[in-house]
This record gives sequence, C-alpha cells and structure tokens, in this order.
Amino acid sequence: MKRSVLLLYSILIPCVISAQFARQNQDSIRKLTQQDYKNMLDQLKITSVRPGPSGTPTAPNAANTDESKATQYTSLPDPLILNNGKRVTSARVWWKKRHPEIVELFDREVYGRVPANVPGVTWEVLSVTSDTVGKIPVIMKKLSGHVDNSAYPSIKVNIDLTLATPAGAIGPVPVIMEFGFVFPAGMRAMPANRPQTANTRPQGPAGPTWQQQVLEAGWAYAILVPGSIQADNGAGLRSGIIGLVNKGGSRMPDEWGSLRAWAWGASRALDYFETDKAVDASKVGIEGMSRYGKAAIVTMAYDDRFAIGFIGSSGAGGVKLYRRIFGEQVENLAGSGEYHWFAGNFIKYAADPRTQKDIPVDAHELVAICAPRPVFISSGSPTNGDAWVDGKGMFLAGAYASPVYELLGKKGMGTTEMPPVEKALVYGDVAYRMHSGGHTSGPNWPIFIEFAKRYLGKHDVVKK
Ligand code: GCU
Repeated sequence: MKRSVLLLYSILIPCVISAQFARQNQDSIRKLTQQDYKNMLDQLKITSVRPGPSGTPTAPNAANTDESKATQYTSLPDPLILNNGKRVTSARVWWKKRHPEIVELFDREVYGRVPANVPGVTWEVLSVTSDTVGKIPVIMKKLSGHVDNSAYPSIKVNIDLTLATPAGAIGPVPVIMEFGFVFPAGMRAMPANRPQTANTRPQGPAGPTWQQQVLEAGWAYAILVPGSIQADNGAGLRSGIIGLVNKGGSRMPDEWGSLRAWAWGASRALDYFETDKAVDASKVGIEGMSRYGKAAIVTMAYDDRFAIGFIGSSGAGGVKLYRRIFGEQVENLAGSGEYHWFAGNFIKYAADPRTQKDIPVDAHELVAICAPRPVFISSGSPTNGDAWVDGKGMFLAGAYASPVYELLGKKGMGTTEMPPVEKALVYGDVAYRMHSGGHTSGPNWPIFIEFAKRYLGKHDVVKK
C-alpha cells in the first residue's frame, strides 16, 4: 500500500472510532437522562408534562414572538409584599423577612437547595506562566479545585479554573470571571426544542476579545469550566458535585440542579481569589451567556460576595419573566433536556393543573435578591435570532426588581418602558441593553465594562 494511503487510513480510522465512541456516549447519556427524569417524575407523582413550544419559527407549534400575545402576567408576585400580605417598607424588614422568604421559594421550587454537607475544596496551582493576550502581558495561572471525595471516592470532582492577571498590575486587581463555553467530550446535551441560532458557541463581533477588553481596563479575567463541576445533562446528576454529595444516588425533588451546582463552583473559585494576593476579592464580577447567563444570575443571587453581574441572553430560567408567553416557556425548561438545571420540584409547573402562574416567585425577584449589587442584563435582538430568550421579558424583570434597589437606597432602571434596540439603560444599578445582534453578549461587552468601571474602578497597569 502506498504511504499516502496508509497515512490517510491512520488519520481516518481514529476519527471513525472516536465519532462512533461519541455517538455511543451520547446514546448512553440520553438513556440515563430518561431514566433519571422518569425517577424524578415518579417521586413527584407526575404522569405527564406538557410539551414546550418549538424554537424553530416556522414550526407549527412555534413559540410566540408576537408582543400583543405576550403579556399575560397579571399575577406577577410583588417582591415587596411579605408572604403574610404585609408591605415591606424598610430595608430592615427586607433583609430580616422578605429576602429570606424569596430565597426559600427559589430554593424549594426553582433551583433547589445546596445540601448542608457539601465537602470542601482544596485549590492547587497547577502552573504559573508569563503569556500575552492580544499583546497584553499577563500572568496565567491554571488552577484545579480538588473536592474532598473521601466519603465516596469513586466520584472525583476537580474544578477547572484559569486566572489571567495583567503582568504590570499595581496591587490587587478586580476580576471578571466567566462561565466558559468549554465542553469536555460528549458532555453537552442539546435540548430538543432549541433554535439553531442558540446552538452555536457565542461569537463576539470583530475587535478585541472580552478578555482583552477586561485586561485593558486593568482587571484580571478568569474562566471557570462548568462541566468540571457538574455535567450539563440529567444523566450526570448522579456524578459531579451533586452525585458526589448523594453518593451516586438520585436527587430528592427539592435538591439542587446544575445551575446551583455551577454557582456553587463559582463561589469556590471566589474562595480561591480570597487567598490570591494578585486579585481584589471584594471586586469580583461574574459573567455568563445563555445557560451560563442563568448560572451567572444564580451566582449573584446566592453569594453576596460577588460585586457585579453581567447576565447575557439568560432567557427563561434566568432573568426572563416566567409569566410572559414569549419565546422559551416553563414547559421547555421542565423537559428532559433541561430539567437538570433546576430542582425536580420545578417540573410541577409544567404538569396539569399547574402552570407558570403558580410558581410562587418570578424572575424579577431573582434580580431583586441581588440588590443592592449592580446587575447588567444583556440581550440580543428578537429580529436577529434571539427571540427565544425574550429580551423584553428580561428587561421587565430588571424594571420590576427596581423598587427593591430603591428601597435599599440605590437606583432602579428608572423606567418600565422597553428602550429601543442598542440604547443602553445604564442610569441605575440595574442596567439593560438589547444589542442588534443575535445570541451573544459580544456587542455589549464595551458597554458593560464602562458600567462596571463605576463600581470596580479603572486600574493602572505599568506598561512594559
Ligand atoms: C437552549 C435553551 C436555553 C438556553 C440555551 C443555551 O436554547 O432552551 O434555555 O439558554 O439553550 O444555553 O444555549
């Protein structure tokens, strides 16, 4: 056989084998996911879940994108009314009573509780190297957060984190941490009803990357790998940090899903920053896009050490109001492709007789529990492929969270009128901008960075 043919075979055969392996892996993930989903439905005594609308605009059951049919949310809960019906009029009552009430409802009904016995994490610095990012000299640290698995050694969890600090930084600098779109092989499950535009890895516009922009502000950036904490599918619920705590068993209906697990991982990364003298741990921002936009707002809501959030196209299950009939719906989130993001209990709202109107909280209250810390809500345009996330539904969550910011002496959005595309609403501590692009945060990075400078400051870097 000719050498060139041999060479071709030696390339092709491993490719075919690995494609086959990936397919088998996907099949087994699908099967295990279905088993886990069924187990949760049985625990909840649910026999059928309503199907969600399709993200494909031409499908007969396409999700609504007509604004005139969207606003059926007359029962929106008021973040400033206590469970006993009394109005909250002071910051004291907010912190003592209402804030814990809302947290409890999100814990039990939406994102699930983090168990009390989650084991500790020991951070190891794997390497420290000098590097450049877009010509900016940086110190690059590769880190691994080893979770203590002595109670159940067959499940290992090592949190993968990278930290890049400007090499010429004077003193400790703020950090913007991203939930990275980095997927270990075979770990990404594609939800069935997902629109094409959302399937692609978010692409920013031409120009400096977000990492370069962050470094140019004099800050550090960090990338956390969500899949190293918890897999992005139902099959993975018996491994990762959730499976480790449950010793390989299944979840109870009020236990945490992947979003809280990812947020827990972000908090452990912040624990590490508290020990690293190169960074200012009181100025750590969290950013994520799409499902990781959901993870970013959950991180902000549950850990008040995070100073600021950049929440990109988070959509349903993030900062979009559940009660708006536009784009993705609770039924999509509660299906077997996405239920693992939430507590099992959340599935109840997609099973008769309950609907999204029965969820005791809505997304504006998730923003409200971040107050008084700044949150920047970002969206793409519905006419350019980002209708699924319902940009207006995310704007309204910020607008309806505003009274809580105001009660705490901060500024809300200042309006409940949806701003035109590309207009930055950065008047208050809850900010919003819909850019004219698609399912990406790219075009909003420069605007977020200007907004964040108000809180994090611009840090000087010595030019080398
Ligand atoms: C799907 C899903 C969304 C999610 C998105 C993503 O479109 O329905 O809820 O945000 O995937 O993370 O890419």
